[in-house]
Amino acid sequence: MTDNISITPLFTEEIIADRTQQLANEIAHTYPKDLLVVALLRGSFMFAADLLRALHRAGAHPQVDFMTASSYGTGKESSGQLTIYRDLTENVHGRNVLIVDDILETGRTLSYAHAEILNRGANMLHICVLLEKPGKCITGIKADFVGFEVPDQFVVGYGLDHANYWRELPFIGVLPQ
Ligand code: IMP
Ligand code: MG
Repeated sequence: MTDNISITPLFTEEIIADRTQQLANEIAHTYPKDLLVVALLRGSFMFAADLLRALHRAGAHPQVDFMTASSYGTGKESSGQLTIYRDLTENVHGRNVLIVDDILETGRTLSYAHAEILNRGANMLHICVLLEKPGKCITGIKADFVGFEVPDQFVVGYGLDHANYWRELPFIGVLPQ
């Protein structure tokens, strides 16, 4: 349960908002007119919502779609198996796609989603993650846009969860052991 635990912010709302706008500005410069943002649920929902509004402010006019995939179950360690619970609605063939996720750790989730979307015929394909844990990636997948690097600790908030709790925090903090 989450009673009586206080989480100290690692990245505040203000810091996240500033960095998100910087990322959106970079993304808006990278993409030609057509852009389909694919948010990987559930962890990226808050970041994706803010990134989309930041993209609007940066002059972009993206479409958005969602995919729910997980390699974690309810634990803190990746299970090594990835399941798609909800697939895309849009056809990505010939589209310029930006995959958005909350955090790149082992890279299993993202390498699977990347291969799948490429396999479906996406034209341009980039990855944007809010957080990255350096040195933990085992799949060779790289993110093109990274918000922040985080230490090798379990972080929650701003969409990131532990057992589906803490997603509602407006900031990101380290979950006490
Ligand atoms: P990967 O497949 O190991 O790269 O893990 C990616 C997914 O694991 C993310 O989308 C998160 O849902 C989850 N995850 C990895 N590290 C953390 C963490 O520190 N806090 C919360 N979720 C995490
Ligand atoms: Mg998660």
